[in-house]
Amino acid sequence: MPETLAHEPLKFAYWVPNVSGGLVTSTIEQRTDWGYDYNKELARTAENNGFDYALSQVRYMASYGADHQHESTSFSLALLLATERLKVIAAVHPGLWQPAVLAKWVATADHLSQGRIAVNVVSGWLKAEFAALGEPWLEHDERYRRSAEFIQVLREIWTPENPEVGANFNGDFYRIHDYDLKPKPVDVPGRAHPEIFQGGNSSAARANGGRVSDWYFSNGKDYDGFSEQVTEVLQHARDAGRATPPRFGLNGFMIARDTEKEARETLREIIAKANKPAVEGFRDAVQQAGASTGNKQGMWADSSFEDLVQYNDGFRTRLIGTPEQIADRAIEYKRRGADLLLLGYLHFQEEVEHFGKAVLPIIREKEAELSEREPALV
Ligand SMILES: Cc1cc2nc3c(=O)[nH]c(=O)nc-3n(C[C@H](O)[C@H](O)[C@H](O)COP(=O)(O)O)c2cc1C
Repeated sequence: MPETLAHEPLKFAYWVPNVSGGLVTSTIEQRTDWGYDYNKELARTAENNGFDYALSQVRYMASYGADHQHESTSFSLALLLATERLKVIAAVHPGLWQPAVLAKWVATADHLSQGRIAVNVVSGWLKAEFAALGEPWLEHDERYRRSAEFIQVLREIWTPENPEVGANFNGDFYRIHDYDLKPKPVDVPGRAHPEIFQGGNSSAARANGGRVSDWYFSNGKDYDGFSEQVTEVLQHARDAGRATPPRFGLNGFMIARDTEKEARETLREIIAKANKPAVEGFRDAVQQAGASTGNKQGMWADSSFEDLVQYNDGFRTRLIGTPEQIADRAIEYKRRGADLLLLGYLHFQEEVEHFGKAVLPIIREKEAELSEREPALV
């Protein structure tokens, strides 16, 4: 059992469907829409049904089933302005943003939303996107070295080591000279600055997760696959002498139905109706981007065709079954160090609501039981 966390109730985030095609690359009916009206309503439903966070996706061009996309930072801000409590995590690529410009943007969004903006630093997988935008595509571990600097720059600008002179940074990718950001982000108790999440599971990503991020996001994983990452990331945090270890979010595609049979049948139908050329095209793109790194530890390194129908391996977490079965798995992931579950659905609006009404109460009951059984944990 990891020495960290799980002191607080499990938190929940949902994937913002700001990209067309839904969360599975399948022709199965998906009652989900990528437009603003749908998403505004969804965000309000989510914050009233137990969700703490929403995570937007960043994509600049059509790829493998996602023909249309709304930009992540502007869309995230629009969702913040339409809600009251939900925190929205905007995905950003270091290769396409100058970090001080983003730090400034986030500070403003933080004031407009009373301290509810966060960022997800993603190092990227879609080489064609960088080529189309005319920006260099660095080799895998160099992308992560740049992401580490990017995160350090954000932190330094929001909370400078020497506030008298402002932020300073002298790295291989970024340089900042006496930059005094005003206003700073909102002062929120328990938060040093807007939270910094990161997505990526390779060795380089794990090192960054432990050394510099506030949160480490894992792709969908079984119990052991998740635990293995928690152990390694926490070791990196210890090696770096960090006072506060990172927290862990785990992706999972949820299919909660009245019977296990129904849930399994839905999964079977999603896979049977997979958009094969799109899934295969995606597999080729991600394998050159991530899984091709030496030790094959990256996301998608051992994903099967079926896994990739949910492009973040969400079926592997097996949040598929009755509310009771799903709650049992959620609790076991919590025992293994998960602070947050990041959830995707087939029919977002109705399933987010169903989660709040039918699944979350059972998870909370089981959390209470867990705290009696293993008080050190909760
Ligand atoms: C939770 C999560 C969200 C992500 N969101 C995006 C995204 O919005 N846009 C993007 O280009 N990549 C996204 N990625 C993918 C990363 O950019 C990266 O390519 C991927 O995690 C592979 O990294 P690895 O080689 O370190 O395993 C996301 C990854 C995770 C885990």
